[in-house]
Amino acid sequence: MFLWGTATAAYQIEGAVAEDGRGVSIWDTFSHEPGRTRDGHTGDTACDHYHRWREDVALMRDLGVNAYRFSISWPRVLPEGAGAVNAAGLGFYDRLVDALLEAGVQPVPTLFHWDLPQALQDRGGWFDRDVTGRFADYAALVAGRLADRVPLWITLNEPFVHMAYGHAMGLHAPGQALLVDALPVAHHQLLAHGLAVGALRAAGARQVAITNNCTPVWPASDSPEDLAAADAYDTLHNRLFNDPVLLGAYPDLSAYVPALDAVRDGDLEIISAPLDALGINYYNPTRIAAPDADGLPFSDAGVTGYPTTAFGWPVVPDGLRELLTGLKARYGEALPPIHITENGCSQPDVPGPDGTVDDQDRIAYLEGHIAAVRAAAEQGVDVRGYFAWSLLDNFEWAEGYHQRFGLVHVDFATGRRTPKASYAWFRDFLAKERG
Ligand code: FCB
Repeated sequence: MFLWGTATAAYQIEGAVAEDGRGVSIWDTFSHEPGRTRDGHTGDTACDHYHRWREDVALMRDLGVNAYRFSISWPRVLPEGAGAVNAAGLGFYDRLVDALLEAGVQPVPTLFHWDLPQALQDRGGWFDRDVTGRFADYAALVAGRLADRVPLWITLNEPFVHMAYGHAMGLHAPGQALLVDALPVAHHQLLAHGLAVGALRAAGARQVAITNNCTPVWPASDSPEDLAAADAYDTLHNRLFNDPVLLGAYPDLSAYVPALDAVRDGDLEIISAPLDALGINYYNPTRIAAPDADGLPFSDAGVTGYPTTAFGWPVVPDGLRELLTGLKARYGEALPPIHITENGCSQPDVPGPDGTVDDQDRIAYLEGHIAAVRAAAEQGVDVRGYFAWSLLDNFEWAEGYHQRFGLVHVDFATGRRTPKASYAWFRDFLAKERG
């Protein structure tokens, strides 16, 4: 069965950050630091999903999706990151899983969507090799409770973005701006993923995947400098996270960084444990030129000539077909079946007098990208799922509540949910799919 779903993440929707024994995450700390997020927005309340989850499950039932990708908050389950379990936290996800199944929606949990327990950050976060074992313990704990009812697990969400935005550029939690010195964060996330694959399977998980953010890389020109920079970017954004998992080897990084000292004998065998699926998050292609002065081996030249979203991201549906066929060409038989675990757009979304949002741009975006998935499938790529980002408008990280990605509008003052035109469009589309 092809999975048609929506996707969310814990810190972006749950709120209730100090309730029922939840521990502190790095996003609580970061969003409360002055100047880190736009207008100082935090996830303290977000969509209040922790209290309104029944309403959100009903929205998905009425939408007609057969799957829902959400993330589990590590500090809600293990407030200190390891050790004492918060029964109320585990209980929340247990009830959510049951309610989803009752609504005909398969739960697809992600174990890490960037909200590291602050207690682990205080011990070095992803620079501390021990965090990898803690992650595997956490995976085993959650799967021990839920694996009997969960068909597909995702270990990490977008380790590239967590490394680059969180540790290289300082735009996301934990706010470190270390440029290429952030690379150990890639290795420790990947090792944590590999250890978690084993832990999940031992606890009875049926299917396991990782979600990578991938982008087709377009050189800004044919000059040798731009071509080399584009290759560097492709290596650091895409191959650094796909090659070790799918091929058991890192791409050659020697031109950009000193040796990756964090790698120990045996790590790559663990990282390349066979997977049942690869999750791909796609938003847009990237156009890359020769480096400027900021210390990185490339510069972002910006994609021009396409419509843009409210975020300013170029809308290039065919980039998704290009990406998927490119993955197939690079990895061949080593490429597992693919799920598009996120795809969507922020739009201005101004509600009309009756509170509804006529988001035709979002409908066009989704239609175009679903067509691109179909085109890739016709060209031989095995795609098994598509999850629209997002069910709800939510806390868009450093942008706070300024970027709305939802099929459902959220009034953040009241929590009121109002389905947009795109929700009705997706509902009708899914009804036709069911035949
Ligand atoms: C992805 C994130 C997701 C959301 C979208 C817009 O990089 O995984 O949480 O913020 O971008």
